[in-house]
Amino acid sequence: MTNPYLWWRDGVIYQIYPRSFADSNNDGLGDLPGITARLDYLAHLGVDAIWLSPFYPTPDVDFGYDISNHCEVDPRFGTLSDFDDLVREAHRRDIRVVLDLVLNHTSDQHPWFAESRASRDNPKRDWYIWQPRPNNWQSVFGGKGWEYDEQTGEYYFHMFVKEQPDVNWRNPQVRQAQLDVVRFWLGRGADGFRLDVFNAYFKDEQLRDNPPKFGLRGFDRQKHIYDIDQPEMMPLLAELREILDASPEKYAVGETFIASPATAAGYCGPDKLHAAFNFDFTLRPYNPAAFRDAIQKWDQVAGQQVWPNYVLSNHDQPRTATRYCRGEDDSRAIVVMAMLLTLRGTPFLYYGEELGLRDISLARHEILDPPGKRYWPFYKGRDGCRAPMQWDASPNAGFSGATPWLKVHPNYVHRNAAAQQADPDSLFNITRQLIALRRAYPSLRCGRLDFLEAPGGLLAYTRTDGREKLTVVLNFSGRKHNYRPEGKPVFVSPGGEAQIYSSTG
Ligand code: NOJ
Repeated sequence: MTNPYLWWRDGVIYQIYPRSFADSNNDGLGDLPGITARLDYLAHLGVDAIWLSPFYPTPDVDFGYDISNHCEVDPRFGTLSDFDDLVREAHRRDIRVVLDLVLNHTSDQHPWFAESRASRDNPKRDWYIWQPRPNNWQSVFGGKGWEYDEQTGEYYFHMFVKEQPDVNWRNPQVRQAQLDVVRFWLGRGADGFRLDVFNAYFKDEQLRDNPPKFGLRGFDRQKHIYDIDQPEMMPLLAELREILDASPEKYAVGETFIASPATAAGYCGPDKLHAAFNFDFTLRPYNPAAFRDAIQKWDQVAGQQVWPNYVLSNHDQPRTATRYCRGEDDSRAIVVMAMLLTLRGTPFLYYGEELGLRDISLARHEILDPPGKRYWPFYKGRDGCRAPMQWDASPNAGFSGATPWLKVHPNYVHRNAAAQQADPDSLFNITRQLIALRRAYPSLRCGRLDFLEAPGGLLAYTRTDGREKLTVVLNFSGRKHNYRPEGKPVFVSPGGEAQIYSSTG
């Protein structure tokens, strides 16, 4: 019999960027004990799992995505025993813990790389990708993908900044060492993993040049047929899946790098990943036809075999409310939140999305993110969406007793968790109600989705499971409408922009 409620399929997964969530020791940086102290908030919101962006030791060139030890906690974020406490306390509240595994590259400060670059005959030389001459591959963060190393007179490949050398997954020892990292965290109670740029692990064996295509920046002027999506990925996913399936209800979601929904779907299945991100929503304008198109495309490629997922925000994109809302008005955030939480697929929430947090704006000298520094003013980087969580109206938004590593959005004085928890009409309480509805109605979790023909400006669909049928009506237009589907209302947002009707017998 299939599990009637499977956390990663039926539940809501909440992404935490640890350095910005809650600072327990007042050093301006969030940490693991800070997260543990806020678990009751997350349990109250109703999420089923948290995904923690990296908290491992890091020189912070790419803010934790450059790891110098995969099996430790950076002392600024806590200790392994703090991690154990967090897992125990999360599990006590029925919240699963998903870790971010960054296995495509390490920091250049990782001991593996220190050995690899020490000499050409070092036993770990082949743990990274070294060449006497570079091919035409580019770094997605700008510039060439190859860095010359004076000491040994060769180039190493880095898909991201030069301080993030890519490992050589073709080396069997590397493969074992990486899978040991997976086993290490499973042994410490992790419930699953988010795999950073997993489809870039393998590169073409002959390191052939990518063919050209039209684009603005160097990276976009190539067809990425040799530096990502290599066939060797599939047997590795099968091996990883076997490790995960050795214990019940473990999970892996891949971050599919520059991929179409079809590519993402191709990486999912019983001997592959449980899920792979489709970021289509993050690219769509605030328009019902655009979202309908994204949902239909995803459903089409996912079929019945692949379980979809939906993401509006994460640590790499401007926040949902920044993209769609006007000023401090949350009505558009309510519409898309209601959509996210009523679709057929796992919803991912990004910390503070339930409060409608907006991006902070930064002057050039305040920018920390490497691509932001490189491409300013054409691209200002990802710091904007990584600002401290807004807990209350006290100094630093209750995030920290010290000056935070990134500034707090000035709207924290009125836009914060405490204020929204006390206001029944807030986005927080709307999100909470919608999560509770998703839990209460199987049709919202796993029912069939059929679009209805509704007047312009509306997105309307039914979710059906057996005799249970819910109709969701989302008003993108900002104007009143008379569209009224069958059934009795089970949810109406305070402004009426999101409505759900039940016509269950
Ligand atoms: C994808 C992550 O989401 C992003 O934040 C990071 O910079 C790159 N991978 C490199 O790890």
